Amino acid sequence: MRLLVCGGAGFIGSTFARQRLREHGDEVTVLDKLTYAGREENLREIAEDPGFRFLRGAIEDREAVAAAIHAGAPEAIVNFAAETHVDRSIAEPDAFVSTHALGTYVLLDAARERDLRYVQVSTDEVYGSIDEGTFTEQSPLAPSSPYSATKAGADLLVQSYFHTYATPVSICRGSNNYGPFQYPEKLIPLMILNALHGDPLPVYGDGQQVRNWIHASDFAAAIGHVLEHGVPGEVYNAGGPDEEANMTVVRRIVELTGASEDQIEHVADRPGHDVRYSLSSEKVRALGWSPQVRFEEGLRETVAWYRENSWWWEPIRSGEYRDYYERQYGRALQVEG
Ligand code: NAD
Ligand code: TYD
Repeated sequence: MRLLVCGGAGFIGSTFARQRLREHGDEVTVLDKLTYAGREENLREIAEDPGFRFLRGAIEDREAVAAAIHAGAPEAIVNFAAETHVDRSIAEPDAFVSTHALGTYVLLDAARERDLRYVQVSTDEVYGSIDEGTFTEQSPLAPSSPYSATKAGADLLVQSYFHTYATPVSICRGSNNYGPFQYPEKLIPLMILNALHGDPLPVYGDGQQVRNWIHASDFAAAIGHVLEHGVPGEVYNAGGPDEEANMTVVRRIVELTGASEDQIEHVADRPGHDVRYSLSSEKVRALGWSPQVRFEEGLRETVAWYRENSWWWEPIRSGEYRDYYERQYGRALQVEG
C-alpha cells in the first residue's frame, strides 16, 4: 500500500512508519511539521529506504498536504499529527485547537476529494476517566482536558465525513503508549531519564491514578489492522494488556535504573487529573490483533533502550525541553548523569 503518514516523525507515527515499511512492504510518505516533539532522527533507520519519503509541513496547510499527496500518490492517509501532552494543553491550548480541529479538517477534505481511505489516530482520553469497568466504543465521549476535548472534536469531525460524504474513514483509539523514542515530557521517559540523572521523580498528587499501558509497537500494529481490515465509519479501541498505578510504575523504574526511592517526590496535582483510564479491545481483536508485549517486559526493554541511546535524548534534554521542564516543574534539570 502507498501511505501518507501525517505526524510520522513523532513517537508512535515513526514506530508505525518503520513497521509498515519493514514488515509490510508499504511505501511511506511522512508529512510532519517537526514541532518540538517531531524529530527526523526518529526515522533514521528507514531514511534511506527506497519506499520512504519525508516532507516537512503542517496538516493545516492545504498546499503542504496537496504537495505530499502529489509526491506520494497515497491510497490511504493515517493521521498521527497532534499536540499530545496534557500538561502543555493546560498551560497553552492554542496549538491543540488549530492542529486537531483545522488540521484534521484539511486532511479529511483531501481524503474526501480523492476518495482515499483515512484512519484517525485517537486516544482513550476522549472517554474521560472511569472508576470501575472499562470503556467500549459505545461509551459516551466525556473529555476533561483541552488535549482530550480537541481530540474528541477531531473524532466527531472524522465521523461526520463518513455520515455526510461517505468518505471511508475509521478511528483507532489507543490507551497510554510507552516504548523507545517517546519524548521525555511523558511519565515513563521522564522518570527514566530523571532516575538516571539523579533528578527528583515528580509524582503528581498521591500517584494512585491508573493508566492502561500499551507498547507503541502493539498500538502501531492495531492501527495497521484497522487500516487493512477495519470497516469504514467504525471506531476501534486498542487498549494494552496491563493497568498500573503511577506509583507502581515509578517504583519499578527506580528498581530497573538502580536509582533511590528517596528521589520520589510528591508534587502539586495536575488540574482536572483523570483518575483512571481503561479500554476494552474486543472489536479490534476480532480483526485479528492482539497485544504482544506485557508491561513488565516492555518497561525493562524501554529502560534499557534509554540507557543505550543517549544520542537520541541528549539533544532533547539540553534543548527546549529544559525550558519546558523549568516552567512546568519550577526547577532545573541536572545536566550530567
Ligand atoms: P508525539 O507528540 O510524539 O508526535 C506528534 C507528531 O505530530 C510530531 O512529530 C509533531 O511534529 C507532529 N505534528 C504536530 N502538529 C502537527 C501539525 N500541525 N502538522 C503536522 N505535524 C504535526 O505524539 P505521539 O505520542 O506519537 O502520538 C501520536 C498520536 O497518537 C496522536 O494523535 C495522539 O493523540 C495519539 N495517541 C497517543 C498516545 C500516547 O500515549 N502517546 C495514546 C493514544 C493515542
Ligand atoms: P502522561 O504521561 O502525561 O500521560 P496522560 O496524562 O496522557 O495519561 O501522564 C501519565 C500519568 O502520570 C498521569 O496520571 C499523570 C502522571 N504524571 C506524573 O505523576 N508526573 C509527571 O511528571 C508526569 C509527566 C505525569
